[in-house]
Amino acid sequence: EPEVIRDKEAMRRWSRAMRSQGMTIGLVPTMGYLHEGHLSLVRQSLTLADVTVVSIYVNPGQFSPTEDLSTYPSDFSGDLVKLAAISGGKVFVFNPSNLYDYGGGERKKVNTGGGRVVSCVEEGGGLGHETWIRVERLEKGLCGKSRPVFFRGVATIVTKLFNIVEPDVAVFGKKDYQQWRIIQRMVRDLDFGIEIVGSDIAREKDGLAMSSRNVRLSDEERQRALSISRSLAMAKASVAKGQTSCVELKDIIIQQLVGSDGRVDYVEIVDQETLEGVEQIKSGVVVCVAAWFGTVRLIDNIEINIT
Ligand code: PAJ
Repeated sequence: EPEVIRDKEAMRRWSRAMRSQGMTIGLVPTMGYLHEGHLSLVRQSLTLADVTVVSIYVNPGQFSPTEDLSTYPSDFSGDLVKLAAISGGKVFVFNPSNLYDYGGGERKKVNTGGGRVVSCVEEGGGLGHETWIRVERLEKGLCGKSRPVFFRGVATIVTKLFNIVEPDVAVFGKKDYQQWRIIQRMVRDLDFGIEIVGSDIAREKDGLAMSSRNVRLSDEERQRALSISRSLAMAKASVAKGQTSCVELKDIIIQQLVGSDGRVDYVEIVDQETLEGVEQIKSGVVVCVAAWFGTVRLIDNIEINIT
């Protein structure tokens, strides 16, 4: 099984020792409960760097107080077994306890009123943490609309992980397309010396994008949720046949989702880099969907490139 490092100072020492031996370091940030999608990122990282750190940390900074932080699924020992099967001794696990507790930090009472943006970090008493990274425009659309603290929390924890692990390369899944683009932009804008790699979406045989949240779907909901990947494939096929109107394309998708009793959060067709909405398909786009099946919110997307 992979070695587990729990202390952030030990993590940084390990990393610097590796570096001084001439090793390059890959980082795959995760919140655990690993599935084949996560493992595909680890495999990709192993081709890009000599050793790979998989961080397993459920980040309270990206959950709002009304979201599913306390019920987020976990299976740490199972995760280690899965990593052992692919590691060949080159995978290390960073599993810190609380990355917002700086010891001796005063627990201030936070005023959650007045429409302020609050995550589970502030809700938990702040622990003195008050620095947040915002990628101002990219974080606003798509998933940012319904989850106002989410990307602020992601950008901040990824920065903390970058500063602790000091990797050469970090791998993110295109499953969370907006997240990947936000991290890429942050790294460019703030001159992190880290290469950011986007990795293809891993899917179940029937097309459902792999996600830790899939286990919460009933059999019947899971069946209906196949309308997400199916509708994205239909939209892509429609573009291949000459359709360029995004209104028409979104209609195809919404019909499929609603026809399967999905509750649509958004269906958007956006530029792959700016994530700004487009009306006519002229260059590369990504079609993004978020929809609820039962109590589970699922996201998926498909890139469409024009050649
Ligand atoms: P988590 O949801 O655990 O995902 C960890 C990484 O796995 C992310 O880069 C995500 O895009 C990728 N991933 C998940 N499902 C995938 C799939 N089906 N195919 C390919 N990649 C997939 O995303 C997070 O955690 C957190 O926001 C994190 C970046 C760790 C910050 O807390």
